[in-house]
Amino acid sequence: MAEFKEISPNASMGAKAANWFENRFPSAFAGYRTHMSEYYAPKNFNFWYFFGSLAMLVLVIQIVTGIFLVMHYKPDASMAFASVEYIMRDVPWGWLVRYMHSTGASAFFVVVYLHMFRGLIYGSYRKPRELVWVFGCAIFLVLMAEAFMGYLLPWGQMSYWGAQVIVNLFSAIPFIGPDLAILIRGDYVVSDATLNRFFSFHVIAVPLVLLGLVVAHLLALHDVGSNNPDGVEIKGPNAPKDEQGRPLDGIPFHPYYTVHDIMGVSVFLLVFSAVIFFAPEFGGYFLEYNNFIPADPLKTPAHIAPVWYFTPYYSMLRAITTEMMYALVLIVVLATAFAVLRGRLPAVVKAAIVVVAAVGVAVMLAIDAKFWGVVVMGGAVIILFFLPWLDHSPVRSIRYRPDWHKWVYGVFVVNFVVLAYLGVQAPSPIGERVSQVGTLFYFAFFLLMPWWSRLGQFKPVPERITFAAH
Ligand code: HEM
Repeated sequence: MAEFKEISPNASMGAKAANWFENRFPSAFAGYRTHMSEYYAPKNFNFWYFFGSLAMLVLVIQIVTGIFLVMHYKPDASMAFASVEYIMRDVPWGWLVRYMHSTGASAFFVVVYLHMFRGLIYGSYRKPRELVWVFGCAIFLVLMAEAFMGYLLPWGQMSYWGAQVIVNLFSAIPFIGPDLAILIRGDYVVSDATLNRFFSFHVIAVPLVLLGLVVAHLLALHDVGSNNPDGVEIKGPNAPKDEQGRPLDGIPFHPYYTVHDIMGVSVFLLVFSAVIFFAPEFGGYFLEYNNFIPADPLKTPAHIAPVWYFTPYYSMLRAITTEMMYALVLIVVLATAFAVLRGRLPAVVKAAIVVVAAVGVAVMLAIDAKFWGVVVMGGAVIILFFLPWLDHSPVRSIRYRPDWHKWVYGVFVVNFVVLAYLGVQAPSPIGERVSQVGTLFYFAFFLLMPWWSRLGQFKPVPERITFAAH
């Protein structure tokens, strides 16, 4: 048992109460010190560092509003749509709770995309923060599953047909696909059974995993310490520290960043409320028009599009046509020829490369392009996990990289937004071409990173963080 901490009889009531609790629950107090009042964070955090706390805020909003929605929602194919309408029209404040939850879903992705972009530009995924990033990527994947299953619940036309399209994709997997799709649906088509299992996953299983991953994400971050816009370590063996070993370039998370984050939270809540009160459908981007029509298994909507946050990946899925497969085969052939003719590799390795490439090309041509579309769509998310090992640049932060690297990141963002836009639009020949080029660029950005991230004139990285007090 830990030793009891004595307290002066003249201490205030508050201090005595705290002392009483600390003697009975010391780990809570130790946790508070480790993660809040004695967690030293770099003092140069900027705008981009608001999004981690905002992601936590949105997570809480989603859980709390979700709990209230479940009180009135009916996970039954014959009642689900009507129960949502009931929430909107008859339940006191039901419309607010529902709009907070639906807007919260989009807000979650806005915040998480910006949070990930910060990691990308400041190299926050580099050693020793690889696991922080990997947990983050797992969160992203789980969040996508959570949003996808939640979207089925209102049982509107888009809920129904969106789920139908996406679950059908699994049937493109060779051998196990058709059975897997039936396992996911619990039926031969999307039906009441699908609604029930998606409900169960959406309200309990996936949120539990999400919470566990967020805890792992933060514990891993606090073990290694936060990165910052300069990408300079403040806690490393060579970093400057005071007599007590506290980093000179760090400030305690509480009160400095708790107060700082109130600013981000205020601005966020202002924008969030504006959307909820004035544009909850957000022009059909947050709540699609077709989802105000009850699901009808006999009537396929003319154009089925997922919600905006999935559309970059949906574009990549649609980009993989049979024609595109020929282009990919050509890329594999050229890359193999390059490795064999130009690479300084032993003959046996070259022979192995040729054999692997030949088998790869045969498999690529033998299986339907639809399956490869699914592989590309999944691969676009999975590749993010490998980022820490793809980036070979000698510096972490974009600040000290060659200027043209900024352009590469800029084009990456524009490309991602274009892919998202195309994913919302009905298919068109020109859209298909653009999304094919966009898909190639997306993968080239990551797969060629070990090469391009090392090129160019890097700027000297300062010994200490740069920070001008304001
Ligand atoms: C529910 C979703 C998430 C929550 C609640 C969350 C929470 C947080 C918080 C509170 C921080 C510390 C504050 C900050 O640096 O902004 C953080 C840092 C970080 N997060 Fe997340 N995060 C989430 C998703 C993600 C995702 C999807 C990724 C990447 C794929 C990611 C990657 C990172 C990285 C690399 C850091 C360290 C940043 C640095 O030190 O510069 N996070 N996260």
